[in-house]
Amino acid sequence: MALYANTQKLYLGSPASGHNARTKRNNKRAGIPAIRGAASSSATEVAYEKGQLERPKWAGETPLSRLVGAVISFKPIYSLLKLGARQVLISTAEKNDIPWREMTRQILESDVYKELESIQNPSLVFPDYYLSPFHAYDEGNLSWTAAAEAEPATKSMSIRAVPEARSADEATQVVRGNWLKAIEKHHRQHSGGSTVRDILDIGCSVGISTGYLADTFPSAKVIGLDLSPYFLSVAQFNERKRSQRTIPIRWIHANGEDTGLPSKSFDLVSISLMFHECPTRAITNVIKESSRLLRPGGTIAIMDQAPSSKVLQNLSPVLFTLLKSTEPFLDEYYLTDLEGTLREVGFVNVADALTDSRHRTVTATVPC
Ligand SMILES: C[S@@+](CC[C@H](N)C(=O)[O-])C[C@H]1O[C@@H](n2cnc3c(N)ncnc32)[C@H](O)[C@@H]1O
Repeated sequence: MALYANTQKLYLGSPASGHNARTKRNNKRAGIPAIRGAASSSATEVAYEKGQLERPKWAGETPLSRLVGAVISFKPIYSLLKLGARQVLISTAEKNDIPWREMTRQILESDVYKELESIQNPSLVFPDYYLSPFHAYDEGNLSWTAAAEAEPATKSMSIRAVPEARSADEATQVVRGNWLKAIEKHHRQHSGGSTVRDILDIGCSVGISTGYLADTFPSAKVIGLDLSPYFLSVAQFNERKRSQRTIPIRWIHANGEDTGLPSKSFDLVSISLMFHECPTRAITNVIKESSRLLRPGGTIAIMDQAPSSKVLQNLSPVLFTLLKSTEPFLDEYYLTDLEGTLREVGFVNVADALTDSRHRTVTATVPC
């Protein structure tokens, strides 16, 4: 994790970086406090700043949130917002050297379509919520366009979470590095020294999170599971092209609420950037299913938007309206008490850390 350690120093404003004034300004914008004595040569943990509220005023059941909801529900306005949200995504990406259109074209003009047959489970019944329009796509996650655009969209998300990074790759290293570090730390502290042998990545999308998990735990068997056969096709296609792993990743087309996988068969269940796309009932079901799937001492790790993030609490009205227009379950997600649900389901050692300016990683253990 050498790059991760270097980027940590960068955000702390090391004079050696030559970006001190800009870094401080950006850190302030990103909600990262200035840290005295941060110019030391050792990598230091960054404390991302929390806002003063439990959750942003634009989320949940506040008058502002209802007002935004009413505006969005007006069809002609919704159509405009949908276009606007898409434009913001693509232009953020391309301004930051993420070649959105080129990456998308490469997938759409490839042989990815051949993967579908081997991946798709034709008897799978989709939960109702999954059939709503999402992320400005009328078919939600059930289309080749959404699947082809998932990787640039994910990189763009990292840039927004780490605006002070000098490149999309550096931003990604911070978002993923801090998330993985939180998982490793939790498992080391609470799992009685047990090795991570089997990992399930629920809501794996096109396999980015799955690849990071497989890289971090190279001796583990890793499964990526998702409801979108198009996303899984891209995951399998990319993995075939890119990787020479000793243990190949397995891709499963299933519902994370009821996977059909054997009980007590995983040491780590990871759910990253999925729950903000789900209603509360699905979140609860996935947490219950994870508890069934994990071995005693196993770890669940949930990474997603942090209601306590100062940056998210201070988002401009234009940005939060655009965000809400493409995420139909965002209010439910922000109102869901993740830690409380984990405890009710029987998890222990529930911990919650801001792992970048916008995201938290919540970890917990199945009791031994
Ligand atoms: C934003 S993507 C997650 C990205 C990925 N985990 C990462 O960290 O880059 C959310 C994914 O959750 C999937 N999803 C939503 N509900 C699901 C469910 N009940 N079971 C399995 N996958 C689900 C969607 O199809 C989508 O691919």
